[in-house]
Amino acid sequence: MGRSDIHLVTDSNEIEHQFRAVMRRLAGCVSVITAGRDDDITGMTVTSLTSLSASPPRVLVSVNRQASSFALIERFGTFGVNILGSDQQELADRFSDGRLKGPQRFEGIPWSAGTSGVPLLGNALATVECQVEEIIERYSHGIIVGSLVSFDLSRELSGLVYWNGQYIEIKHDFDLDLLAEISIPLAHVR
Ligand SMILES: Cc1cc2nc3c(=O)[nH]c(=O)nc-3n(C[C@H](O)[C@H](O)[C@H](O)COP(=O)(O)O)c2cc1C
Repeated sequence: MGRSDIHLVTDSNEIEHQFRAVMRRLAGCVSVITAGRDDDITGMTVTSLTSLSASPPRVLVSVNRQASSFALIERFGTFGVNILGSDQQELADRFSDGRLKGPQRFEGIPWSAGTSGVPLLGNALATVECQVEEIIERYSHGIIVGSLVSFDLSRELSGLVYWNGQYIEIKHDFDLDLLAEISIPLAHVR
């Protein structure tokens, strides 16, 4: 790839705009972070979830401190991670829709409370119940470090990614099926 069009960031008013353009090139796995308990529940769509370490098992997510989820995560010290599958784009829309508030986001969709009471979404690729280990407040966001309390894996393996301002489905099962179709006739040849 040619580097002839490198842009130097000089005008401070342009920095944010340019930064957003850069970050749109970064594909992010789509998850819903859930928070609260009983009637006081909410959740939000995120792409900032990542693994911090495997030993010990820790995740990291960057949450805007203005988001309704942040206050509940701080108050209860727990949160849910729901990694969305390729057929769950509707959930990604719902949990980033500012017109829907807290419990409204859960209406009509399958979910259940984890051991800590935090809501966990049904049919996600994977769900993890986390305990807050640390919150590092930086600028507009809180970097939340979570330790794993429990997890659940679905049998499906087709994920949802957000890239360049749009959702993209990774149909892993479909790819595997195709691979199987191609390799079975080959196996017969032997
Ligand atoms: C694809 C996508 C990814 C997002 N990732 C994040 C994120 O990593 N951190 C964050 O604070 N907000 C993120 N947001 C925005 C939040 O989903 C949104 O601000 C939140 O739902 C607002 O919640 P509230 O109305 O309950 O305050 C993302 C939105 C979308 C559509």
